[in-house]
Amino acid sequence: MKNILVIHGPNLNLLGEREPDIYGKVTLETINNNILAWAKKHELKVDIIQSNHEGEIVDIIGRANSTYAALLINPAAYTHTSVAIRDAISAVGIPTVEVHLSNIYAREEFRHTSLIAPVASGQVSGFGQHSYILGLEAILTIINK
Ligand code: DQA
Repeated sequence: MKNILVIHGPNLNLLGEREPDIYGKVTLETINNNILAWAKKHELKVDIIQSNHEGEIVDIIGRANSTYAALLINPAAYTHTSVAIRDAISAVGIPTVEVHLSNIYAREEFRHTSLIAPVASGQVSGFGQHSYILGLEAILTIINK
C-alpha cells in the first residue's frame, strides 16, 4: 500500500472560525475526514499533520521520503515566505502537490508568489475544501505513472 503524507500549515487548525468569508465554514476535522474517506476508497494510506511551526514542517518533510510516495501540502502563510520548506521538498525529491482553499492569485499581491510552486509537481488553488481532493487525484496520477 502506498503512503501519502498530508501537511496543513499554520492557522489551518482555525478553519471554521477563521475568516469564513474567505475560507468557508468547513473545519479541518471535516477536511481530514473527507481526505481519509478518499484514501479508503482508493486503498491508500494517508497520514495527516497540522503544524504552526516552520521548523517542525521542515523536520517532517526531511524524514518523509523513506515512508511516503507523495506529499500533499497546504503551506498556508509559509507558501509566500518559506525558503526552508521549499528547500526541504527539493532536498528529499518527494513528488509534491501544493493546495490552497482560496484562489491566492485573486487576493493580496503578496499572496501571488508561491516559493513552493517551483519545486512542486503542480498546484491547486481556489476550490475550497475540494482543492484537497483535486490535489489527491493529481497525486494518484503521479504515483501510478
Ligand atoms: C491559504 C492561502 C494563504 O495565502 C494563507 O496564508 C493561508 C491559507 C489557502 O489555503 O487559501 O493561510 O494557503
